[in-house]
Amino acid sequence: MKIPDSKIDEILEQTDLYQLVDEVVPLKKAGGSSFKGLCPFHTEKTPSFNVHPDKGYFHCFGCGEGGNAISFAMKYHGLSFPDAVRMLGERCGVEIEYDQTASKDAKDIVALHEELIIDSRKYLYSIEGKKALAYLTERKFSDRLLEEYQVGYFPPNVDPAKYIRKYDKSVLINSGLFKEGKYGLRLMFYDRVMIPVKGVTGKTIAFSGRTISDQQPKYINSPETEVFKKRRVLFNMDKAKQSLRKSEFAMVVEGYFDVMRLHEYGYGNCVASMGTSLTSDHIGLLRRYTGDIYMLFDGDQAGYKSALKSLETFVQADTFPYVVFLPEGEDPDSFIDKHGKDSFDQLIGAKKDLFLFAAEVLLKKSKDFNAKLRSLDKIKSMLISVKSPYRKDYYAQKLAVMFQVDENTLRKDIDISAAKTTLKRTSGTVEKQQERGRGVTYFCERDFIAALVQLPEDVALNYTDNILPEYFHDRRMSEIYKKVLDVLENGDNINVLLSTPDIAKELSPVLVSDLNSDLYRSAAASREKILANSVKDSMNRKIKDASDMDEKRRLVIEKFNTKKKLQEK
Ligand code: GTP
Ligand code: MN
Repeated sequence: MKIPDSKIDEILEQTDLYQLVDEVVPLKKAGGSSFKGLCPFHTEKTPSFNVHPDKGYFHCFGCGEGGNAISFAMKYHGLSFPDAVRMLGERCGVEIEYDQTASKDAKDIVALHEELIIDSRKYLYSIEGKKALAYLTERKFSDRLLEEYQVGYFPPNVDPAKYIRKYDKSVLINSGLFKEGKYGLRLMFYDRVMIPVKGVTGKTIAFSGRTISDQQPKYINSPETEVFKKRRVLFNMDKAKQSLRKSEFAMVVEGYFDVMRLHEYGYGNCVASMGTSLTSDHIGLLRRYTGDIYMLFDGDQAGYKSALKSLETFVQADTFPYVVFLPEGEDPDSFIDKHGKDSFDQLIGAKKDLFLFAAEVLLKKSKDFNAKLRSLDKIKSMLISVKSPYRKDYYAQKLAVMFQVDENTLRKDIDISAAKTTLKRTSGTVEKQQERGRGVTYFCERDFIAALVQLPEDVALNYTDNILPEYFHDRRMSEIYKKVLDVLENGDNINVLLSTPDIAKELSPVLVSDLNSDLYRSAAASREKILANSVKDSMNRKIKDASDMDEKRRLVIEKFNTKKKLQEK
C-alpha cells in the first residue's frame, strides 16, 4: 500500500540528517551550518562529504553522491524506498498510517467507471444514441465487437444527479470524469462515442471519447488520475496479455479502432498507446509478456518521423523492435477492411528492423559524402549503446555495406568512441569530470530544476509555463524536468521524486549550496536562459533547413539581431 505523501514530508521534517549520518560517518563542523566527513560512498583521505542538516541535503564533492535522508538510508543501508521511509519513521517516532480514504476513493472510482460503462451502453442503443450507433455501423463495427470492448455513447448534457447521489464529490472529481461547471458538476464527455480504457488487470481506469460530429479535438481522454497514468497504460493490454504469452510478438498500432478491428480479425496481440509516443514504461510492460515488438506506422513522412523518434527510447531500453509501414493514407483498420487478412499478413511479413530502417532513412537524406559521414556519426552514437556484442557486430556489418565504408575501420571507430565514453564516465572524480564536460547550459538547466523543486508548487508551475522538456540541451536534465513537470501537474509529492537516488544525486550540489538563496531570482534567470537557448535552437534549425543562400543569409542576420535583443534584455 502507498505511503501517504504527507507522512513522507513529516518524516523528512522530523529526521535529523546530522544524527542519521553521524552515526555511521563521524562529522565535524564546517562552514556555516554545515558539517563535513569522510564520504561513505567512496574511499578518501580528506573529507569532501558535506551535510547540511538545516537544508536536509548532503553532497559529496569527491564522488558526486548526494540527496536527502531517504536517499541516504536507501543508499547506505541498501533499502528500498518504502523500507527507508519506514526505518526513518521508526527513528523519529512518526507512525505510518496508511491512507484509508485514498484507497476507498480508488475503489469507488473504479465502480464509477463500471457504472458509466453500463449507462453509456444503454445510451448507445437508445433513441439518443441513434446517430452514434449509425456512425459505428457505418464504420462496420458489429454489435458483438462493440460489446466485447464495451463501447458506448454519451449524449450532450448527461444528467449527473444520479451519480452525485451515489458517490462522494471527491470521487467524482478525482475520477477526472466530472468537472465543476457553472451549474454544478457535469460529465466531461459530450456527444462522444465512449471507449473504456483498462489497466493490465482489466479494471477500467479511464475513457477515451471520440467525437461523432466534427467537434475538436477528435479524441478526449480522461485526465491523469491516481489510477490512470498515460505513460504506463497501453490500450487493450488486459486482453492482449493472454495472447501475448502465446504469440511471439506484440503489435503496437496508433488507434483504438485499429486495435479493435485487428482483434476482430483474430490478432489478439495488439495494443495502442493513449495517443502519445511509446515510453520506456510501455516498453517494459510489453517485454514482460512477449519477445518482439512490431510498431505499425503510417507510410508517410509523419510515420517515418515517429519511427525515427522512437529509436532512442528503444535503444535505451535495450529493445529492438521491427517497424511496419502501411500504404500512405491507410491505417490498419482501413487496410485490413479493404485488402483482407492475407494482404495484412504479407505487410507484417515485410517488417524492417527499426535500427536499420533509421540508418536507411538517414542515408537517403544524405546528398553528398560529408552529409553521409554526419549521418553515419549519428547512427554510430546509437550503436555504441547497443549492449549485445552480437547485435552490435551485426549492425556494424550492415552499416558498413549500406554506407559503403570499410567494416574494420567502422568497428575500430566504434571501439574508440565507446572507450572514450567509458573513460569519460570513470576517469577522475565523477564530479570534476562532469564539470569539465558540462558547460553553462547544463548548470543553468540544473539551477532551473533545483529552483523549481524548492519553490511552492503553484509558483513553480508558473515558471514552467512555455518551457518544454525539448528545450533542454542536457538529455538527463530534460528527463528530470519531465518528471518534475509530471509531479507538479499531478499534484504529487516532490519529496518522493527528490528521494530517488539518481535524481537526488544529480541535484544535490545545488540543493546544498548557498548560491541559490534567492530561488525566485534563480528560477527566473535560468528560465530566461533556457528560453533564449530554445529561440537560438529554432533559428539554427531554420538556417540549416533554408533552401537557398539568400534565405540563409537573411536568417543569419535575423538570428544575430535576436541575439542582440536578448542580450540587451
Ligand atoms: P479514427 O479516425 O476514429 O479511425 O481514429 P484513428 O485512431 O485512426 O485516428 P488518428 O490516426 O487520427 O489518431 C491515432 C490515435 O491518436 C488515436 O487513436 C488517439 O489515440 C490519438 N489521437 C488522435 N487525435 C487525437 C486528439 O485530438 N486528441 C487526443 N488526445 N488523442 C488523439
Ligand atoms: Mn482510423
